[in-house]
Amino acid sequence: MVTPMSELFDIDAVRARFPALHRQENGHPVAYLDGPGGTQVPETVIDAMSAVMRDGVSNLGGGYGASDLAVEVTASARAAVGRLIGCEPAEVAFGQNMTSLTFAVSRALAETWSEGDAIVLTSLDHDANFAPWAMAAERVGVEVRVAEFDPATGLLDAQAVIGLLDEHVRLVAVCLASNALGTVVDVASISRAAHEVGALVFVDAVHAGPHLRIDVDVLGCDLLAASAYKFFGPHTGLLFGRSALMAGLPAFKVRPAPSDPPGKWETGTQSFESLAGVAAAIEYLESVGADAIADHETSLGRRFLEGVAGMGHVRLYGSPEMGPDRVSTFAVAVESRHPDAIARRMIDSGIYVWSGHYYAVNAMDRLGVLEAGGLVRIGFVHYNTFEEVDRVLTVLDGLR
Ligand SMILES: Cc1ncc(COP(=O)(O)O)c(C=O)c1O
Repeated sequence: MVTPMSELFDIDAVRARFPALHRQENGHPVAYLDGPGGTQVPETVIDAMSAVMRDGVSNLGGGYGASDLAVEVTASARAAVGRLIGCEPAEVAFGQNMTSLTFAVSRALAETWSEGDAIVLTSLDHDANFAPWAMAAERVGVEVRVAEFDPATGLLDAQAVIGLLDEHVRLVAVCLASNALGTVVDVASISRAAHEVGALVFVDAVHAGPHLRIDVDVLGCDLLAASAYKFFGPHTGLLFGRSALMAGLPAFKVRPAPSDPPGKWETGTQSFESLAGVAAAIEYLESVGADAIADHETSLGRRFLEGVAGMGHVRLYGSPEMGPDRVSTFAVAVESRHPDAIARRMIDSGIYVWSGHYYAVNAMDRLGVLEAGGLVRIGFVHYNTFEEVDRVLTVLDGLR
């Protein structure tokens, strides 16, 4: 196969920025195809994080140099997220991870719900965008409606969500991209329809983070959560919420904490070193460019899809084509092999992949593979290479 070249992208220069890509396993160079579970970080992120600790950082509000640094770092992280997703810095709150932030905001929103209300969730979503809402709904006696994706194509038709909307619906929680099948959802259409019936829209953008340009105005959502460790940053979550909404909702907070957003949504002291890393990760993404990333990932994805298309013993779940409906995350099964055994085989040859359900339990259940151990997930991000695609194809081919 001829290796396609991208004019937008110098893969060697990109890889040179990531120290962890030099790792070896069992004497093999590691191919990190586990990006959906967390990506590696460029040197600039590591430097930004260690600089904060090296220079002395104190808590917010001390009125001296090291405390001012914490203020500065927090402000630049909010500004960077504002650039990344197209919102005001004050609309961004940080937290431990997307799951914690979603539990917090679901609990707060549930305070505004009452019996007779309904919410709409999807079977495509990671459980972090399902369980918090379902639990909050149960506490208040709110109906949960579940929009189903098509197991044959892996696609979640916006109409499957829109068809469940009526005047009782208070919230729609939906992912922008699936961490299991790579499916991209038409969130903009869902938001428009949800707003017509007065419902809010919460978007899980965790899996979209490393792959897609995210703009909260284009998506039309009211709330959105993401995680920096999926887009080349540290283990920190972020929550966007429209100003008026975040100001009006009752946050669960300690009394002396700020009563205005974003501070009222941030429990305790943030990890300032991580916030420095978040800003650096976003600067890194800006330096590479969303178009170059998309271009390279599409080429990687096409090569992978062409390769598996010729393998009768490998079944791909989700869309078989790179296009607006998918990102370069692939779930596969191999005839007569347990997913864990396939993943082990790959890991032994230095290819990091994941097997199981990766918390997308409803999706795996709908695909009918949950009891049988789920699927093997192979994820390509922009630091992966055509040679790594070929390595994984060779292992899959050898499993006939
Ligand atoms: C799509 C998706 N949503 C939510 C989460 C949970 O994110 P976090 O680990 O930040 O809580 C993940 C993590 O894998 C994910 O892939």
